[in-house]
Amino acid sequence: MTSFMSPIKYEHEKMYLLDQTLLPGQEVYLEIQNKEDLWEAIYKLKVRGAPAIGVAAACGIYVCTRDMAAASFEEFCHAFHEVKEYLASARPTAVNLFWALNRMEAKLLSLKEKAKTETWERAQIHITQELKEEARKIYQEDVDSCYAMGKYGLSLLKPGMGILTHCNAGTIATAKYGTCLSPLYLGQEQGYHFKVFADETRPLLQGARLTSWELDKAGIDVTLICDNMASIVMKNGWIDAVVVGCDRMAANGDGANKIGTSGVAILAKEYGIPFYMFVPTSTIDLNTPAGKDIHIEQRKGEEVYKMWYEKPMAPEGVKTYNPAFDVTDAKYITAVITEKGIMYPPYDINLPKVFEV
Ligand code: MRU
Repeated sequence: MTSFMSPIKYEHEKMYLLDQTLLPGQEVYLEIQNKEDLWEAIYKLKVRGAPAIGVAAACGIYVCTRDMAAASFEEFCHAFHEVKEYLASARPTAVNLFWALNRMEAKLLSLKEKAKTETWERAQIHITQELKEEARKIYQEDVDSCYAMGKYGLSLLKPGMGILTHCNAGTIATAKYGTCLSPLYLGQEQGYHFKVFADETRPLLQGARLTSWELDKAGIDVTLICDNMASIVMKNGWIDAVVVGCDRMAANGDGANKIGTSGVAILAKEYGIPFYMFVPTSTIDLNTPAGKDIHIEQRKGEEVYKMWYEKPMAPEGVKTYNPAFDVTDAKYITAVITEKGIMYPPYDINLPKVFEV
């Protein structure tokens, strides 16, 4: 039985995040005590992966606001909103961050009438209890959603298949199981013997540091390759399916994911290999019409010219371009796997249907 490492822990009223920048060398949990700790953890990718960012934000906004001094419901809401806006500024692309913060704020606002029925002192205690419960629900829903995506995803795969993945959409990118790695874990438990190829995923090496680490720990056959080797393993006939996660899927089915994903999708099309994108409904953004409307995070040049910020690999100060994500056009996505089922094109027609189930 696979033992899954959680990127987010809440124990004895304290919140901890697994510092993913130290993996695979060290497994260290950081305590999150205030909004600055959480902002930095998200910005520096100590917690990363769209669903994990959302769950951390939900738990974090509760932790950062539970002891706030406020003289009334309105004052509390105002201060809560400021914390929310601050946390939302940490990273722009993964919609789960905004989704989770909006859901927490909606929960708070829904308590307005109830708050009027008791003294503000009592009401504040009840409000913080309800916010804690909402964060717990968001965590549990992510666990359930990843498990469901695993089952749907596995129905598309056959024992012994060669699978290519890019970046890390595994257990540490979510509350548990992962999105696109979830079917691989389920398959492992059922004796599927997949042969997984993990793109290293420059510049921050999520594939090398995180995916190959977590799959290897689970006893799954994983081969690490450099990003520029995806074409040769496909041409060799070693890949039967590509599985990737998503940071934000627009209403027309264009999906933003880690930089390099769109190139892998184009290659897969050329070689006739199905390309599956795993997208929980918390990552579908029907308010964004198309991929061109998704805000792509630009990160510092050091990530490109220095190896993990330390060893220079290029002249200091060389001009760089460092988008953290790219958009895979809907036409390259064979199927979108959600926790509600598998969606096929045309996505502009079919994606809204997942919200009706
Ligand atoms: O910059 P990161 O490491 O947060 O990017 C993560 C990805 O691109 C993942 O593939 C995506 O968030 C899906 S995680 C289930």
